[in-house]
Amino acid sequence: MTRIIRIEKPGGPEVLKLETINLEKPSPEEVTIEHKAIGLNFIDTYHRSGSYPVKLPSGIGLEGAGVIKEIGSKVKDFSVGDSVAYAGAPLGAYSTERNYPEKNLVKVPSGINLEIAATLMTKGLTAYYLLHKTYPASSNETILFHAAAGGVGQIFCQWAKSMGCNVIGTVGSDEKISVAKKNGCNFVINYSKEDFAKKVLEITKGKGVPVVYDGVGKNTFHKSIECLKTRGMMVSFGNASGSLENIDVKKSIQPKGLYFTRPAMMHYLSSQDELKEGSNIMFEKIKLGQIKIDLYKKYRLDDVKQAHADLESRKITGPAVLIP
Ligand SMILES: NC(=O)c1ccc[n+]([C@@H]2O[C@H](COP(=O)([O-])OP(=O)(O)OC[C@H]3O[C@@H](n4cnc5c(N)ncnc54)[C@H](OP(=O)(O)O)[C@@H]3O)[C@@H](O)[C@H]2O)c1
Repeated sequence: MTRIIRIEKPGGPEVLKLETINLEKPSPEEVTIEHKAIGLNFIDTYHRSGSYPVKLPSGIGLEGAGVIKEIGSKVKDFSVGDSVAYAGAPLGAYSTERNYPEKNLVKVPSGINLEIAATLMTKGLTAYYLLHKTYPASSNETILFHAAAGGVGQIFCQWAKSMGCNVIGTVGSDEKISVAKKNGCNFVINYSKEDFAKKVLEITKGKGVPVVYDGVGKNTFHKSIECLKTRGMMVSFGNASGSLENIDVKKSIQPKGLYFTRPAMMHYLSSQDELKEGSNIMFEKIKLGQIKIDLYKKYRLDDVKQAHADLESRKITGPAVLIP
């Protein structure tokens, strides 16, 4: 029997329900994966709350790692027993096992454990595309990243450091300052206490930064714009504090001739070639020790409500997983 978390209506963590089902056989281009770990992501809370509407009833979760139990009749590149990981639709990673399309899977190289792999496919690949594709950051550039002690933050900041960037990270509490420093930030600002735009301009001697990577959204947008230099790029990749609604181009973008982008993984990693290229680079960085994953916590699948509550109350530092 398969244990799976489902939602029937949008709402708080209480709408996450554990069910037991009989999993169907994989379709011809799918494999059945027995999960060893499931990645916990802030985006899961958007699906659960209805901020990103999903067709209900629905499974939940986008990221997982495990071992292939069965393959569909047309599966070419994977075999039973392979260790694999994935990120992306269809929803349903919060489960003991599931069927998943072959085209979105990657093999996990030996030496990378599956609990770590389950945190890399969303958070690591996001760091990869933000730093290499959206705004390719250069060595010695000073860049700003919000929520530097978070899940994406832990990987992004180490990755940026390994490229030689000077990273300014923001955090929401004093306790998170040491976490962000450990993640590789050269400067850390507690934006709950300090005016981060003023501080960034002080650090950069009034010049500003060429790029802001902002996964916080509503609460940080305007001050992030203040931090940018002429022709800088505002990369708004998430909405932990709420979505950006209307952007006033005349007020926010025009005065400094800025670039604005709202990227998602699907814009950078939707083909198999892109996925392979990004994952190979990412796995190599893990093997070389340039990025170390320090799991915040392993929650039991049964404790998923607590995991969501912790995520939304800003308790979680670094990547966390659910263990089926
Ligand atoms: N576009 C993409 O491709 C993509 C892919 C993956 C993730 N994301 C986005 O990246 C961001 C980080 O994701 P994650 O899974 O690693 O989460 P996370 O950073 O571990 O958690 C979100 C963090 O946002 C900060 N935050 C600021 N205001 C908040 C508020 N009002 N409520 C809750 N949190 C608030 C908190 O850190 P402080 O307490 O330090 O402020 C919190 O810990 C999310 O916005 C997510 O949607 C985007």
